[in-house]
Amino acid sequence: MFLVSRSMNVFVTGGAGYIGSVCVERLVEAGHIVTVFDNLSEGHREAVHPGARLVVGDLGEREALFDAVRKGAPEAIIHFAACALVGESMTNPGKYFRNNVAHPLNLLNAAVEVKARRFVFSSTCATYGPPARIPITEDEPQKPINPYGESKLMFERMLTWYERIHGLPFSIFRYFNAAGASGAFGEDHRIETHLIPNLLKVALGQASHADVFGTDYPTPDGTCIRDYIHVSDLAAAHIAALGQTGSEVFNLGNGAGASVREVIAACREVSGRAIPVREKPRREGDPPVLVASAEKARTTLGWKPSIPALAEIVESAWRWHRAHPHGYASR
Ligand SMILES: NC(=O)c1ccc[n+]([C@@H]2O[C@H](COP(=O)([O-])OP(=O)(O)OC[C@H]3O[C@@H](n4cnc5c(N)ncnc54)[C@H](O)[C@@H]3O)[C@@H](O)[C@H]2O)c1
Repeated sequence: MFLVSRSMNVFVTGGAGYIGSVCVERLVEAGHIVTVFDNLSEGHREAVHPGARLVVGDLGEREALFDAVRKGAPEAIIHFAACALVGESMTNPGKYFRNNVAHPLNLLNAAVEVKARRFVFSSTCATYGPPARIPITEDEPQKPINPYGESKLMFERMLTWYERIHGLPFSIFRYFNAAGASGAFGEDHRIETHLIPNLLKVALGQASHADVFGTDYPTPDGTCIRDYIHVSDLAAAHIAALGQTGSEVFNLGNGAGASVREVIAACREVSGRAIPVREKPRREGDPPVLVASAEKARTTLGWKPSIPALAEIVESAWRWHRAHPHGYASR
């Protein structure tokens, strides 16, 4: 893995959100000077490590953003901020093109102005659409099937042009399913659509049951298979990217899938609670299997998951949810 031994100024959008908060924690621990820029629409003030400076602002507020970037004088920019609800994007696509494409254009222009030396972007496996081959490699054709995936793909393309024309080097990370928690920071979305936190809410007695969408998929137990990657491992990849040269795209996943039923079993086992579930019909647009090949990140970036076991991932999430049963205080 590339190591950055010296302290860098790093500007992190969305650093008050789930993945951003854990990455900021790691950056601060590694000795970097971190500015977080977040509008707190989904994020939380307490999710920002006290060693980082928080600027509350929106990517759409050009002057405020440029001011924060100039003051942060970043060598690297890590861009987590986005709207990330697939279902909502199917009913309100404009919100996704505005927040994930139009407004972040300000960030690209600010990055060019301050001559940032690296731009790290949180992309997603949703840019691929239903894959032709499993595991999914970075050269899988990108054919998103929802505006969320499309908006992320559009930003990837913008970034590629900015690299070519303005010489802004990038690391694009296509995450699979982020899961788990660090000791201090975990997953607290106002609208939670992810399987593990929803199962753990049932385990905590905050919901009567969780829904399972589709039990007749062509998979061994009939439920969808997804690739769960620990949030601390995602953070580690971002730290490694700071020492990267050139511009590259990487999948970030475990390289192994778990079915919905396997995740339910792991949550029951770890929590020791029954966790009732209700079986529902398939949701439109859910591919049966999404599993990453993270081989390129392994060989090029020297990154590999340090917490690959589903039970350990769930345990870390359970610890965090038990310690924060109602999430962060600022909900
Ligand atoms: N969670 C996953 O499994 C997953 C998978 C693939 C990709 N991603 C991507 O990773 C990134 C982080 O995901 P997350 O789960 O941590 O999401 P999150 O919603 O917890 O964090 C996003 C943060 O961005 C902030 N934000 C949103 N719009 C903003 C704006 N216009 N200006 C300033 N701040 C703004 C929110 O307040 C929030 O704190 C997103 O870009 C998402 O698309 C996440």
